[in-house]
Amino acid sequence: MNFKNKNVVITGGSTGIGFATAKAFIENGANVWITGRSAENLQEAAAKIDSQRLNTVVSDTSNLAGIEVLQKAVEENQMKIDVLYLNAGTAVFSPIDQVTEADFDAQFNTNVKGSFFTLQKLLPNINNGGAVLFTSSTVATAANLGSSVYSATKGALNKIAQIAANELADRKIRVNIVSPGPVQTEGLDSVVPTEETKDYLASATALQRLGNPDEIAKAVLFLVSDEASFIMGTELLVDGGYTTFARK
Ligand SMILES: NC(=O)c1ccc[n+]([C@@H]2O[C@H](COP(=O)([O-])OP(=O)(O)OC[C@H]3O[C@@H](n4cnc5c(N)ncnc54)[C@H](OP(=O)(O)O)[C@@H]3O)[C@@H](O)[C@H]2O)c1
Repeated sequence: MNFKNKNVVITGGSTGIGFATAKAFIENGANVWITGRSAENLQEAAAKIDSQRLNTVVSDTSNLAGIEVLQKAVEENQMKIDVLYLNAGTAVFSPIDQVTEADFDAQFNTNVKGSFFTLQKLLPNINNGGAVLFTSSTVATAANLGSSVYSATKGALNKIAQIAANELADRKIRVNIVSPGPVQTEGLDSVVPTEETKDYLASATALQRLGNPDEIAKAVLFLVSDEASFIMGTELLVDGGYTTFARK
């Protein structure tokens, strides 16, 4: 896929799925802007990718002031965006009786409010005919124990994405959703710290393994490329069969 001279903005691009996707876009010729809260993580990511076409912006997507930092960076560079990948997300798994207000707010503010207002603020800078992609999750439709808030954020995101697809259709901006299953990332390590639980997650997929961030990146590049020109308002599960797996 050729993204030469295309401008790509990825929220949450310093580690995990966002990082793998940034790397893939760079390898395919794009100019890429990645965001994250930690300047150190962004610098590490930039050092690993090592390309003049990679730019970093410290921007906390969970509040409007943070989103405006990204908006300013886009405007100062007079950038017209071809691909906006709304990927930053956070998860806290705990049963309903143990969820704190802080956990609730962190997940809704980052996953829902952050993606919504980033889309709203950057909308004027997105080229007609461009693409917007949301990272949701298989949990948006599943009902796993301990994931009430996280699942609710991803369910909300799916609905926002579908309505965005309808609203942006006039500008021929394609809006879609990628929903990973369990993927080995820094983020997964922080919420699923034991090998035992990871093994359990792997065994819950038909392919009997965790996904690799590069496998999600390939799906992302496809969905925002011209190869997917008639794909609109849809959710692509990239989950090793997690959603449909039936144990023998
Ligand atoms: N890994 C999985 O199994 C899996 C499965 C389904 C869906 N997902 C979704 O995939 C996306 C990426 O997850 P991942 O596993 O790759 O996680 P990750 O390795 O933790 O990466 C998350 C990225 O988002 C950034 N981020 C987090 N909070 C942010 C905020 N408030 N503002 C700006 N950036 C923020 C992080 O950087 P800073 O920490 O420096 O801000 C980092 O760059 C998330 O939306 C997640 O819900 C993951």
